[in-house]
Amino acid sequence: MAAESLSIEQIVDLDRYPIDRPDHPRYRELLARGGDALGQGALFALPRFLRAEIVPQMAAELDALRQRSTRYDRPRNAYTLVETDNDLAPDHPRNLMHSCSYNQVLNFQIPNDSPLRRVYYWQPLTEFLRILCGYDSFYRSDCPHLALSAKIAGPGDTDGWHYDSNDVVFSLLLQAPEAGGQFEYAPYIRSESDENYAEVSRLYRNPQRYAERPPMSPGDLTVFKGDLSMHRVTPVEGERRRIVALFCYDREPGTSFDQWYIDELEQGLPLNGR
Ligand SMILES: [Fe+2]
Repeated sequence: MAAESLSIEQIVDLDRYPIDRPDHPRYRELLARGGDALGQGALFALPRFLRAEIVPQMAAELDALRQRSTRYDRPRNAYTLVETDNDLAPDHPRNLMHSCSYNQVLNFQIPNDSPLRRVYYWQPLTEFLRILCGYDSFYRSDCPHLALSAKIAGPGDTDGWHYDSNDVVFSLLLQAPEAGGQFEYAPYIRSESDENYAEVSRLYRNPQRYAERPPMSPGDLTVFKGDLSMHRVTPVEGERRRIVALFCYDREPGTSFDQWYIDELEQGLPLNGR
């Protein structure tokens, strides 16, 4: 089936998630449940958001673009990426470095007729997420590189402990690895006024005990507040890659990412990346 012939109801499970019908009782129930989940646990999962039949096709489309995608592969710390604070001990949470490696397929590399783009551009979803997050305004990003993107993690790839610089992340898991590649997080471990380094140290030492490990399956949509919730993805084991699509929004219209960050992404592109 050609991608452009797919309607949104062939991609998104509208029976389970009537995102296109704001007056449906389940719409209001979803918003209420989602608001509670984000407020209490920083994460709202919408299992089987995508129809199961379409998920492998969406994963394969992105995997086919991997050779042209940008590669990130260097350690970073959870706060300032690479800077070391010499006033603090080397093992202070601010200074500990974590492995970080993955490929990222960029917005301009994803076909215009991709079912993934169809979901991202679907206005009822943007409106649902706006209400869920409690914003007055909410726009899809205009960034040619990162408005819509996908992270692909192969054997050994991992996304080390970090906080996000934006307050909410919207992701669609499209392919799970055979093992590893587990998303782990500590909800609201820090606040606006308290970094809570003692608990962060404890989390680093014993994530098995202190991190939450929400179940995630291909086709699930996840809304995650990562600015105050330390999180990571453990190393992927086995040949099957972990593929997750990322949707980027902003409260202001027409936003793009900072050029220094785009320059870094460009540096990771192979010669035939464009
Ligand atoms: Fe993150």
